[in-house]
Amino acid sequence: MAYQGKSALVTGGGSGMGALAAQQFAAAGAQVAILDVNEAGLKETAAGNPNIHPYVVDITDFAAVEAAVAEFESAHGPLDRVYNCAAIMPFGKLLEQDPAVTNKLMSINYGGLVCVARATVPGMVARGCGEFASFASMSGIIPSLMMGGYNASKAAVATYTEVLWHENRDSGVKFVCVCPPAVATPLLNQGKETTWPKLMQQSEGSELTPDVVLAAVDADLEKGNFWCTVTREAKIGFYMRRWMPNAVWNNIHKVEGF
Ligand SMILES: NC(=O)c1ccc[n+]([C@@H]2O[C@H](COP(=O)([O-])OP(=O)(O)OC[C@H]3O[C@@H](n4cnc5c(N)ncnc54)[C@H](O)[C@@H]3O)[C@@H](O)[C@H]2O)c1
Repeated sequence: MAYQGKSALVTGGGSGMGALAAQQFAAAGAQVAILDVNEAGLKETAAGNPNIHPYVVDITDFAAVEAAVAEFESAHGPLDRVYNCAAIMPFGKLLEQDPAVTNKLMSINYGGLVCVARATVPGMVARGCGEFASFASMSGIIPSLMMGGYNASKAAVATYTEVLWHENRDSGVKFVCVCPPAVATPLLNQGKETTWPKLMQQSEGSELTPDVVLAAVDADLEKGNFWCTVTREAKIGFYMRRWMPNAVWNNIHKVEGF
């Protein structure tokens, strides 16, 4: 990817896929803004890389997101690419999870996307170009037991992004909705520290690596594909959920044992 002279913004840039995406964009020659609440993670991502510009920003704070975008764009030019990666992932049965936690999932994972999209996409649409990657999850496509709060937030991310794409499909801006299965990043620890469904236990050891996901996002942006499922198995799951939802649920109940 040649990215000399381009500008990118990555939320969740202090960890996992956001951190790697920022480093890849910077290595390819872009100036990159990274937004995160994790100040130590931001410093680590930016260490030794003058092309990476950290902003300690909570993406649910629209004014703070707008201010960071304005400051970065005035210094480095209009954004060419935006990756919204920031998210949280506590698990739990819906009737056992603190409602404040279930609502926080929606506020950060979905509400944060709304703030980032509203602060960045209008400029791209006005310029008639740009690339916007929204990190949903296969969990936003296939709901499961003990992940309901996360599932709901990621389904909202997928739906919002799909409508955003269709409302702006003639704008020249490319949109991609990223829906990978499990990826080996620190995010998984939040699930493990709360409730760890057997389905997630089954995928332990076969998680994707962040570089594989980012390469798939790049390829789908290049091809103009909206859905990025990353793997063939996830793509099959995507269609199974649509065509045979009961079969998918039966399997989930069988695996979890209730
Ligand atoms: N890891 C997986 O298994 C997996 C699978 C599918 C989709 N995803 C999605 O991919 C994206 C990236 O995930 P990851 O695995 O790299 O996660 P990660 O936990 O490694 O990184 C997420 C970052 O988001 C930041 N963040 C959380 N709340 C924030 C807020 N309010 N404002 C700003 N930053 C905030 C965290 O501090 C963290 O640095 C997420 O949207 C996640 O839901 C992850």
